[in-house]
Amino acid sequence: MAKESNDWRDLYKKNNEYEEEPQTHAGPVLFYTNIVIDNFVNPRNVGEIEDADGYAMIGDPSCGDQMKLWIKVRDGRISDIKFKSFGCPGAIATSSMTTVLASGKTIEEAKKLTDDNVILALGGIPENKRHCSLMGINALLAAIQDYEKRRPTLDTA
Ligand code: FES
Repeated sequence: MAKESNDWRDLYKKNNEYEEEPQTHAGPVLFYTNIVIDNFVNPRNVGEIEDADGYAMIGDPSCGDQMKLWIKVRDGRISDIKFKSFGCPGAIATSSMTTVLASGKTIEEAKKLTDDNVILALGGIPENKRHCSLMGINALLAAIQDYEKRRPTLDTA
């Protein structure tokens, strides 16, 4: 008889295709959707970019969570994006989705992303975790600002 796993993540691994959850909740939901759980358990784009074109470190003073985010820009598009987070499940899931949404976008398109876009893509998020979605977006915007400040140097490099 197969030994039963006691890894809680196994409960979610078999059910991470999201079919039963339409991506229509721009507002709060009462639970973590499967998309949130999947982005928390398997966060996308985790890591660092050594020769990044833009970088930011953001903290939320209300809870003490922090994240770092790096972007690489090629031909005006975000060609690579990575993050590291010391944060709650909401911060990790929303930061992961922020990087997914920003990846491949032009700088101008990425600047228009909002926390509502992130929440919608996650199928909603509980109201008291809504503020967590600001950390990824704020880090993205700050990394873009850093990129734009450095750009004259990068263009002549
Ligand atoms: S509780 Fe701090 S970002 Fe979620």
